[in-house]
Formats: sequence, C-alpha cells, structure tokens
Amino acid sequence: MPDGRPLTDEEILGVCILLLLAGIDTTWSAIGSSLLHLATNPDDRRRLRDEPDLINSATEEFLRVFAPVTMAREVIEDTEVGGCPMRKGDRLLLPFPSGNRDPEIFDRPDNVVLDREANRHFAFGVGIHRCLGSNLARMELRVALQTWLERIPEFTLTDPDAVTWSAGQVRGPRTPALRVHRRVGSDDG
Ligand code: HEM
Repeated sequence: MPDGRPLTDEEILGVCILLLLAGIDTTWSAIGSSLLHLATNPDDRRRLRDEPDLINSATEEFLRVFAPVTMAREVIEDTEVGGCPMRKGDRLLLPFPSGNRDPEIFDRPDNVVLDREANRHFAFGVGIHRCLGSNLARMELRVALQTWLERIPEFTLTDPDAVTWSAGQVRGPRTPALRVHRRVGSDDG
C-alpha cells in the first residue's frame, strides 16, 4: 500500500509482469555462463563434479564473475560519489558486474575460485531494490548445476567460436554449442 492507499489493478498487474519477466533471462544467463565456464575449464568441471560440497561457494562465485544484470538509476539530487559529481536528473548505469571484479575487494578478481570464502558480490544489486528473487535464483542455479553434473559429468563445446553473447541489460551466452560426453565418469574431455 503506497501512501496508505491500496494498489490499483494496473500496479498489481505491473508487479506480476515484473515478477514473471525478472526471473527468466536472468537465471538462464547465469546458468548458461556457469555451464560455459565448466565446459571450457576442465579442472573446475572435474573439481565440482568430484567435490559436490563446493556447490554453494561455486554458485556464489559464478554469480560474482558472470553477474548478468546491469541496472540504471536517475539521480534525484546533486551529489558526489567517489569524486564523481552527479547532477539531479542525470541518468547512470550501475554496472554490478564491474563492481564484482573490484581488485580492492576481491583477491584474483578475474579468476573463478570455486571455494572462495569472502564473496559479498553485487549480482543481485544492493539497497531497497535489491533482487526480490535472489534466493529462488540461487536455488535454480544450484539445482541446475548439480543435476547437470550428476547426469552429464563430461561436456565440452563443439564450436567455441559459435558462442554469442547478448548485449544490453542482461548479459549471457546465447548460442548453444555443447558436446555431451556420454560415458559417465569419463575424464578424457
Ligand atoms: C541469477 C538470477 C538473477 C539475477 C542476477 C538478478 C538480479 C537482479 C538485480 C541486479 C536487480 C536490481 C537491483 C537494483 O535495482 O538494485 C533485480 C531486481 C529484481 N529481481 Fe532479480 N535477479 C535474478 C533473478 C530473479 C528471479 C528468479 C526473480 C523472481 C522470480 C527476480 C525478481 C526481481 C524483482 C521483482 C526485482 C525488482 C526489485 C525492486 O525493484 O524492488 N529476480 N534482480
């Protein structure tokens, strides 16, 4: 109830549409980036397969390194952030993926470290608009990777050059080019 009044039908519909849309390409982008990493990094693929207890820290690490979402804001009053002046009405991007690789915060920021312990990343934003679906998203990513690795422990890309990336607010790989190795437990890529 904003300002003590009930939501209008239009506002309720807007919330429903946001909930529906916000959980689609975000999660498939995160799952896709994580699988792409595992397909192209055999050491991490085999480690996660052989040490399934790493799934929680690995999930957070994939969210940090491949954070799919960038949001925008409008400045509501003149201010300065980190020495950068901002004027009321300015529009700016919040590049969460970039903040997630801040070398002052993260050791080896560009590397995927499956057992990274301190990992306070920005993949779900921050503040009053922080992602409403973050725990659902975490569960989806975790279950997808666990199930994939149980069923398909060995996989590589048939054509790495065929992978394309979406542009814009939600970033992730879009062209599937996976080769699945049928022999369960095979180590030979
Ligand atoms: C890996 C998957 C996801 C990522 C990376 C992600 C990321 C984000 C980010 C960065 C924001 C904006 C935060 C801000 O403006 O400060 C956001 C907002 C939001 N997300 Fe997600 N999201 C994901 C999945 C989901 C899912 C599964 C749902 C629900 C089914 C969802 C629902 C929402 C909603 C409703 C908002 C708007 C919150 C508000 O404005 O108060 N998201 N998300």
